[in-house]
Amino acid sequence: MENKKLYIETYGCQMNVSDTEVIFAILGRHGYERTENIEEADIILANTCSIRDNAEQRVWGRIDYFHTYKKQHPEVIVGIVGCMAERLGDQLIKGDKVDIVAGPDAYKTLPDLLEHLASGHPQINVKLSKEETYAEITPVRTDKNGVSAFISIMRGCNNLCSYCVVPYTRGIERSRDPHSIVREACDVFHKGYKEVTLLGQNVDSYCWKNGEETVDFADLLKMVAEIDPRLRVRYSTSHPKDISDKVIETMAQYENICRHIHLPVQSGSNAMLEKMRRRYTREWYLDRVRKIKSLMPDCNITTDIIAGFCGETEQDHQDTLNLMKEVGYDYAFMFQYSERPGTLAARHYPDDISPEVKTRRLNEIIELQNQLSLESNERDLGKIFKVLVEGPSKKNANELCGRASNNKMCVFPDTEHKAGDYVDVKVIECTSATLICERV
Ligand code: SAH
Ligand code: SF4
Ligand code: F3S
Repeated sequence: MENKKLYIETYGCQMNVSDTEVIFAILGRHGYERTENIEEADIILANTCSIRDNAEQRVWGRIDYFHTYKKQHPEVIVGIVGCMAERLGDQLIKGDKVDIVAGPDAYKTLPDLLEHLASGHPQINVKLSKEETYAEITPVRTDKNGVSAFISIMRGCNNLCSYCVVPYTRGIERSRDPHSIVREACDVFHKGYKEVTLLGQNVDSYCWKNGEETVDFADLLKMVAEIDPRLRVRYSTSHPKDISDKVIETMAQYENICRHIHLPVQSGSNAMLEKMRRRYTREWYLDRVRKIKSLMPDCNITTDIIAGFCGETEQDHQDTLNLMKEVGYDYAFMFQYSERPGTLAARHYPDDISPEVKTRRLNEIIELQNQLSLESNERDLGKIFKVLVEGPSKKNANELCGRASNNKMCVFPDTEHKAGDYVDVKVIECTSATLICERV
């Protein structure tokens, strides 16, 4: 029998990218083969995100599109998986547009769900698990260049930040067996990958206990960094309340642990941080930044910011802007607050900042960040970086692009090297997004 073709669209965060690779592996064992062409697909899955309303709206648009597509291709199976599947469950099968709904901990049951479709009824599994980490599954890599791989080190989140839907869609936090992580990292390195990104919602609370053995995040970083000095290690996301001196010191000891920390601050106002239940203060956050910079002056710090959270005053907003300047972020992801049903904030605080004010504040934040990113890049003029080549630059076939250890994108003329090579370059010009370099 010919293999069935599986097409997956991925929305949301890197965790979802990593989960899509797990789904390809699980269904691959059951004779489903990956395709990147929807026209060829026997099964179409959308791996979805619920983090903000606009993320969900996009998927509803896709569901309508798949519905229309199915009218011409009635035999095609459509499934919704991921965070939106978990959040909305059987609401998604109303209207007969979707055949399968599976939450983030239910992917091992996808082959069964597909089989049971023969009964003529839509199939749904949104059970969350306290243990599932997919540790023994070898993901089918979907990256384009074979250079950089995501490795999921934990699942779920226990933090219950008041605005956030993730604890509800991903369940409680659980850490994956470190030996399976190291095995996976070794495996990708032997396949030619040069970089791994360790993923978790709050990597600093990674903790594995087995008998006498306890492995925390710093220990895990060390284990992965020691695989080979030519393998770069990145990770995301740190939580400011939990990032420990031990983690920062471990980073500083290994050149191949990249000089970049994504440290989402969310707001510069203590009143907002308290209401967000982030469980740190502005002062604590700035102390963490000082600690990082004292051990690694060349470490880039990037962040996430939410504009217009419940009750945010003009002064709270100004506190965010001046914190951004004080840290001098190299890059930021910036969002307007979007109320998520069922979260603590939705239950306790009115979403009382008008859309106009949210937009204006977000625009001020974006404008400031553009300026800070440009200043950050200007500080790198004249510096020499080791770049891991990802491939030809988008604009010019005679140029390569890749990232420096600090995660900045570098482009430079070069027709000799290829994806996966390390090249030393000097920064000669910049924009707010890119370092323009030459080989040295
Ligand atoms: N675990 C990570 C972030 C996960 S979600 C952490 O704790 O930092 C990624 C980002 O989306 C968050 O950092 C936050 O800035 C943003 N976000 C989460 N919920 C949101 C909401 N309801 N409205 C707007 N932005 C939100
Ligand atoms: Fe959401 Fe907070 Fe958990 Fe991040 S740490 S995923 S923002 S609850
Ligand atoms: Fe990621 Fe979105 Fe879920 S950010 S964890 S896919 S809600």
